[in-house]
Amino acid sequence: MPAESKDAFIARLMAQMTLDEKIGQLRLISIGPDMTHEQINKEIAAGRIGGTFNSVTRGENRPMQDAAVKHSRLGIPMFFAYDVVHGHRTVFPISLAQASSWDMQAIALAARTSAIEASADSLDMTFAPMVDISRDPRWGRTSEGFGEDPYLVSEIAKVTVRALQGSSPAAPDSLMASVKHFALYGAVEGGRDYNIVDMSPMRMYQDYLPPYRAAIDAGAGGVMVALNTVNGIPASANTWLMQDLLRKDWGFKGVAVSDHGAIEELTRHGVAKDGREAARLAIKAGIDMSMADTLYLKELPGLVKSGDVPMGDIDNAVREVLGAKYDMGLFDDPYRRIGAAKDDPPDVNAESRLHRAAARDVARRSQVLLENRDGTLPLKKGGTIALVGPLADSRVDMMGSWSAAGVPEQSVTLLEGLRDALGDRGKVVYARGANVTDDQAIVDYLNFLNWDKPEVEQDPRPAGDMIAEAVEAARRADVVVAAVGESRGMSHESSSRTSLFIPGSQRELLKALKTTGKPLVIVLMNGRPLDLNWERANADALLETWYAGTEAGHAIADVLFGDYNPSGKLPISFPRSVGQIPTYYNHLRLGRPFTPGKPGNYTSQYFEEKTDPLYPFGYGLSYTSFSVSGITLSAPSMPRGGRIQASVTVKNTGPRDGETVVQLYIRDVAASVVRPVKELKGFRKVALKAGESRVIRFDVDEAMLKFFNAKLEYAAEPGDFDVQIGLDSEAVKSARFELL
Ligand code: BGC
Repeated sequence: MPAESKDAFIARLMAQMTLDEKIGQLRLISIGPDMTHEQINKEIAAGRIGGTFNSVTRGENRPMQDAAVKHSRLGIPMFFAYDVVHGHRTVFPISLAQASSWDMQAIALAARTSAIEASADSLDMTFAPMVDISRDPRWGRTSEGFGEDPYLVSEIAKVTVRALQGSSPAAPDSLMASVKHFALYGAVEGGRDYNIVDMSPMRMYQDYLPPYRAAIDAGAGGVMVALNTVNGIPASANTWLMQDLLRKDWGFKGVAVSDHGAIEELTRHGVAKDGREAARLAIKAGIDMSMADTLYLKELPGLVKSGDVPMGDIDNAVREVLGAKYDMGLFDDPYRRIGAAKDDPPDVNAESRLHRAAARDVARRSQVLLENRDGTLPLKKGGTIALVGPLADSRVDMMGSWSAAGVPEQSVTLLEGLRDALGDRGKVVYARGANVTDDQAIVDYLNFLNWDKPEVEQDPRPAGDMIAEAVEAARRADVVVAAVGESRGMSHESSSRTSLFIPGSQRELLKALKTTGKPLVIVLMNGRPLDLNWERANADALLETWYAGTEAGHAIADVLFGDYNPSGKLPISFPRSVGQIPTYYNHLRLGRPFTPGKPGNYTSQYFEEKTDPLYPFGYGLSYTSFSVSGITLSAPSMPRGGRIQASVTVKNTGPRDGETVVQLYIRDVAASVVRPVKELKGFRKVALKAGESRVIRFDVDEAMLKFFNAKLEYAAEPGDFDVQIGLDSEAVKSARFELL
């Protein structure tokens, strides 16, 4: 007899379910202080919970699975989810940092390792990847995404989904990916979290939607719905978004979960007059599971009975939830990731469970060298290094936001990293020098975030005393390394900023260090582009390390001492100031563009400041140098459906082996709608020995020339195109061809 198909299995199961049991499957609850374990197990046994999140050990999840499988009427298994965003027990660099590697193997390694660790802790699903395009660094969640570019973020979305889900979401070492936040969350007005999103359809289709689509096409089993409005209708009640676009146009077949409390928030948005209406709107839109609220549970039974919600809507949602459980292999074996109690790890945080080598490798690939005057870096392994700054010895900040089950005590600080690398060949003198901020209101705010315990600890000494101590350390040293930036809570959900400066307390420290005349290496730790004008002008070397994870200190020391030659490139533009935002490289062309070197009058510019970014998209230095030749095209024109090849010779012209990222951009010379000045359409990470050169060939095909026209049709139009190839988005060579 042939095995029963998924559809038949689910249909048979649903035929046995009562309305209440169906509605129970739509409830996704957070394990937290609100309900005792005993209460939760009772609810599960009564068939009133479909899945949970935030419980992260086999010991915690086994009794819940027992309650579902052994004590509920139909024995439908639970699933267990968690925000495994950039690591689980081992914390990898934050997503924005990983994007800076432009290294798809490194990014896949981080996601695969995270899935292996999290599934071994009984988790089935992650609320990741987060692929919201961000062009506004004021938004704290910029740190959680992969930057500003639709192509780069889409490539990463695909790689991440495949690495998380492995051979199949049913595999015991896989996590089902739920891509988030659908949709457009990164475009909140003014970069203020949870603010409205209002966007033209063309921009939406062209720039913001592609990464979600890429994740779904790569097989993501879930979608998490955004908290924001999309052109006047909250995503969680948006039938166009959830049905017409996601399911009908894109063919998504998977589970859609709301974000935390989002259905309740429909009343606050003012599209629902009460909880009953909110539940009706959300289920009608196609939100299958309600996260962390009780509205579905309370309201759906009455709504179905009164006929306000057709049974078919409930069935559609239940089918997706059961379908996801089926795909995760839970009907085959509800314990496939929980395992047997006898095999539980005696210590979930055991050192042996960490993947430090992988974390270190990804972390060093994720750093971006922004400045390096007179070969200040790499440092010699010898002499005396003064290490200063509030982030130099802060374990917790190395973790970045959404650090899953990572334990700060297991992270390596820069102080430890430098000492380990130097051994007895040199000396590190450490002085904290400043608090992250002296603004007590900000400290209180940061300590109020959802951390288990307050984590911004203020050194009670007067600022002047701390600076004096650091200056004294600097005077005795050959070089000063200053680890400064933001505490991790500053680049976090609900941590939007109006300023992008390094906080004043740290700037004062840097200024004082500068007066010593010692070479000043600034090591940045932060989760968003910052305003670095002062640092750029005053530092001898500037290294962006983001929040580098469990192995931060070792990985940064690898770069500082040249044991690894930095190869990262910015996945997001660094503006010159807050006033210049939005600053992104792929903006549309203008009728009155500013031309550098020409008078600015009556051109599009700010008269007080240059128009270009401080550091452009794609930028990053190395300890060696590279050159790129002019472009050779295989043909001057491309027939419809054809392809041509664009090649350059890239040479390592410096004294060291190194890696760089060769980037390919396309500019559509004229089209039926205004097109961007350029768009990334390909890239290649290349390792070259000192003196080595290599021809790098890119295929350019018609698909790379397509865009959404005024009717939102995706098509390429005949005419001229410029291919641009270079090592950042500004310094490029160009060649023209025609699409026939
Ligand atoms: C965030 C989501 C996250 C969810 C569950 C929400 O506050 O917006 O990104 O997945 O919480 O932890």
